[in-house]
Amino acid sequence: MGGATRPGYIADMSDAFTMPGGFRLLPGYFDRAAQQALIDLVVTASRSAPFWRPAMPRTGQPLSVQMTNFGPLGWVTDKAKGYRYEACHPETGQPWAPMPDTLLTLWREVSDYPAEPEACLVNWYAPTSKMGMHIDWDEEATDAAVVSVSLGDKARFRLGGPKRGGKTASMVLSSGDVVVLGGASRRCYHGVDRIYPGSSTLLSDEHFPGGGRINLTMRRVTIPG
Ligand code: SIN
Ligand code: FE2
Repeated sequence: MGGATRPGYIADMSDAFTMPGGFRLLPGYFDRAAQQALIDLVVTASRSAPFWRPAMPRTGQPLSVQMTNFGPLGWVTDKAKGYRYEACHPETGQPWAPMPDTLLTLWREVSDYPAEPEACLVNWYAPTSKMGMHIDWDEEATDAAVVSVSLGDKARFRLGGPKRGGKTASMVLSSGDVVVLGGASRRCYHGVDRIYPGSSTLLSDEHFPGGGRINLTMRRVTIPG
């Protein structure tokens, strides 16, 4: 249709976005009790591996999210050395908290991958935080899906194609939802446009001042075997 308006329709076909293969949204995968148990694990992990605010490579510009990790490897970034995986927290020098069993079980159920995830990045979005469009590039095991869990406030998640600046689609992710970026979608741009502040009561002010959203992102980093 090449952009020509079709009589009787509001949208023309040039607006069409085809969802990349391997993308899956599993709404309400975790019920409220399971969400609470995951948040409790994040709080416990953050006692030994506190949330910190990482910096972009080269510019040193701070990210708008705070981070910690679970698992033998954790994703980190700083001005001097950039994006990478490290076995220890950049500020304490201590290992990350172990990967929770619930997350290993989720991975086995949805990743369709023959080895375990090595990293679970914990992103804490404040009400004003966003995540720019990006592709996850820092893993060797590019054949493994990325599996993520949304907890707390709703977020507008945006998915595009393999090239920057192409067409995108967006959807609202709610607490307990799971997203799987497998197959072709593993190499597609994605990001978070905004958080909907106050849309969930899961994150207590005691542990998460100002509230917001937690996203857990599991990844296989090294090639198994
Ligand atoms: C990410 O792509 O790193 C996070 C996605 C999300 O927060 O849902
Ligand atoms: Fe990502």
